[in-house]
Amino acid sequence: MQNLKDKIAIVTGANSGMGMATVEALSDMGATVIMLCRSKQRGEEALEKLAAKKDRKLDLILCDLGDFESVRSFAKQVKERYPRVDILVNNAGFISLDRQETKEGLEMQFGINHVGHFLLTTNLLPIMGEGARIVNVSSGAHKTGKIHFDDINLHKGFNVITAYSQSKLANVLFTRELARRVKDRGITVNCCHPGAVATNIGIDRKTGFGKTITGLLKPFFQTPAQGARTAIFLASDDSVKDISGEYFYKCKIAKSSKRSKDMELAKKLYEFSEELVAEK
Ligand SMILES: NC(=O)c1ccc[n+]([C@@H]2O[C@H](COP(=O)([O-])OP(=O)(O)OC[C@H]3O[C@@H](n4cnc5c(N)ncnc54)[C@H](OP(=O)(O)O)[C@@H]3O)[C@@H](O)[C@H]2O)c1
Repeated sequence: MQNLKDKIAIVTGANSGMGMATVEALSDMGATVIMLCRSKQRGEEALEKLAAKKDRKLDLILCDLGDFESVRSFAKQVKERYPRVDILVNNAGFISLDRQETKEGLEMQFGINHVGHFLLTTNLLPIMGEGARIVNVSSGAHKTGKIHFDDINLHKGFNVITAYSQSKLANVLFTRELARRVKDRGITVNCCHPGAVATNIGIDRKTGFGKTITGLLKPFFQTPAQGARTAIFLASDDSVKDISGEYFYKCKIAKSSKRSKDMELAKKLYEFSEELVAEK
C-alpha cells in the first residue's frame, strides 16, 4: 500500500459506487480526502459511513457539476481551506435515457461528465504542482463516441448511446490535451475504463427507475471496490508517477479509439470547452 499521508485528494461523485470506494482506499492510504457530492443528504450519509472507521481524514464540500456557479464556488472553498491539491479523481458520472439539460442548457451527460469536470479541473490547476495527479474516469463507451461540434447539445440526434459516448470520448480527449499542457509543470493526467461495475449508475435518483435491472445484473458485474482499482492505482501507485496522457484498463495502458488519439480534435475540444465555460 502506498503512503499518501501528506496528500490532499478530491474525489467527485464521492457518495456512491466507485467514487465512494475511491475515497475509502485513498483515505486508508493516509490522504486527506475532500468528497465532492451534489446532494447534502447523500453526501452526509456517505461521510458518516466512511468516517465510522477511525483515523480517516475526510471533508465534504457540496457541488453540482451541472452548474458553473456551484463548480466555481467549490473550487473557491477548496482554495480557502487547503494549500494545494495533490490528487484529483474526476469520477462523477451521469447517464440518462431521456434528454435533460444542465443549468447552462448543456445536454446533461456532456455537461456533467465533461464540461463540469473541465471547469473544476481548470479552476483547481493553479493550486496543483509538481507530482500532482489528475485521473479522469472514462469508459469503454468512448469507442463509439463522436464529438458533435455542430450540435453539441444533441437537439437533433439525441439518444443515450450518442450522448454518453460523446461525453466519455470527451474525457479521453481532455486527458490527452491537458496532459500535454501541464507536462512542464510535472502534473500527470490519465484516464481509465473501470469495466462493468454494479453501482447506482443509470438509476433515477428521484424515482428509483433502473434499480431492478441493476439488481438483476449485479451478480455478473464487479463490485465498486473492484471497479475503482484502476482509478485508485493511477491516483496513488509509484509505478505510474511519470506516465501521462494515457488510457488504462485493469491497471494497464489499453487501446483506445482512433478518434480518442486525434490531437487536433483534442485541442479543438479543449478550446471549445474554454469558450463554453468563459465568464460572460
Ligand atoms: N458502473 C459502470 O459499469 C461504469 C462503466 C464505465 C464507466 N463508468 C464511469 O464510472 C464513474 C463512476 O460511476 P459509478 O458507476 O460509480 O456510478 P454511481 O454509483 O451512479 O455514482 C456516480 C456519482 O456521480 C455523482 N453525480 C452525478 N451527477 C452529478 C452532478 N451533477 N454533480 C456532482 N456529482 C454528480 C452521483 O451523485 P448522486 O448520487 O447525488 O446522483 C454519484 O455520486 C462514472 O464516470 C461512470 O461514467 C461506470
